[in-house]
Amino acid sequence: MNTKVNLAGVELKNPVMTASGTFGSGEEYSEFVDLNKLGAVVTKGVAAVPWPGNPTPRIAETYGGMLNAIGLQNPGIDVFCERDIPFLKKFDTKIIVNVCGKTTEDYCAVVERLSEEPVDMLEMNISCPNVKEGGIAFGQDPKAVEAITKEVKKYARQPVIMKLSPNVTDITEMAKAAEAGGADVLSLINTLTGMKIDIHKRAFAIANKTGGMSGPAVKPIAVRMVYQTANAVKIPIIGMGGISNGEDAVEFLLAGATAVSVGTANFQNPRATEEVVKGIEDYMKQYQFEDVQELIGLVK
Ligand SMILES: Cc1cc2nc3c(=O)[nH]c(=O)nc-3n(C[C@H](O)[C@H](O)[C@H](O)COP(=O)(O)O)c2cc1C
Repeated sequence: MNTKVNLAGVELKNPVMTASGTFGSGEEYSEFVDLNKLGAVVTKGVAAVPWPGNPTPRIAETYGGMLNAIGLQNPGIDVFCERDIPFLKKFDTKIIVNVCGKTTEDYCAVVERLSEEPVDMLEMNISCPNVKEGGIAFGQDPKAVEAITKEVKKYARQPVIMKLSPNVTDITEMAKAAEAGGADVLSLINTLTGMKIDIHKRAFAIANKTGGMSGPAVKPIAVRMVYQTANAVKIPIIGMGGISNGEDAVEFLLAGATAVSVGTANFQNPRATEEVVKGIEDYMKQYQFEDVQELIGLVK
């Protein structure tokens, strides 16, 4: 059985990766998950300088998911390169670094710095709904998406993944803009903007008032957007949003994703990523698929 997939020339042993921000840089999960079994580890977003993140509370449970407004807390690129990359290099998995910034120059500085590091791909988070500047400011305007993609590509040595926001009217417009800017791969979806009010405290459940919604409840929206995007662009797609098991992952592959990421499910079940790998293999055995690539975009 072949489970290998190819993303812009980078071969993954299977299509399963972690979703940025839900797996640290792998270390805290490595006692539950054999990282060697994953197609790739996607790190938490890293910026040019350390960011403190948003005030607490920053997460809240919702029906079938959660809201978060972490605000891209991170130690900055220097600590990341010294501490996290050497840890991940010990494993036989691909390393994808998620990058965040407030300005185009911020993104480019991190991308340039990473060009010397032994990482396989770079993912640009232009879709975080939880920071005031940067992030979403880029991800909701097709002209800005194209411009930042072009700029980042000038500095990148590794293939560039542009991570798209679902908080738009037409996801295919953003996808086409990223492709026109030279993106190698797209990933979607980031979280959907939501709100929860604590009726007993008569206050917002999270200090930022709004947060990004993720988890099983968002999966049908994510599958729809992956399907639409796969039919609008030629570059490969990493699908995510509510994947908890192999069957969920297969749904994204059938919709047109070449690879999948597991996010919120890690909080409930720290072994979720490994179980998704096994679940895809079980599905392939059950329906006698020899090659995982036969599944990609099979449902038209
Ligand atoms: C607590 C938390 C932190 C996140 N941090 C990031 C981040 O730093 N960068 C990013 O691109 N996406 C971030 N995300 C979005 C996820 O990577 C993913 O796109 C989204 O949660 C949908 O997948 P899921 O439903 O499997 O969680 C975060 C999500 C959560 C729940």
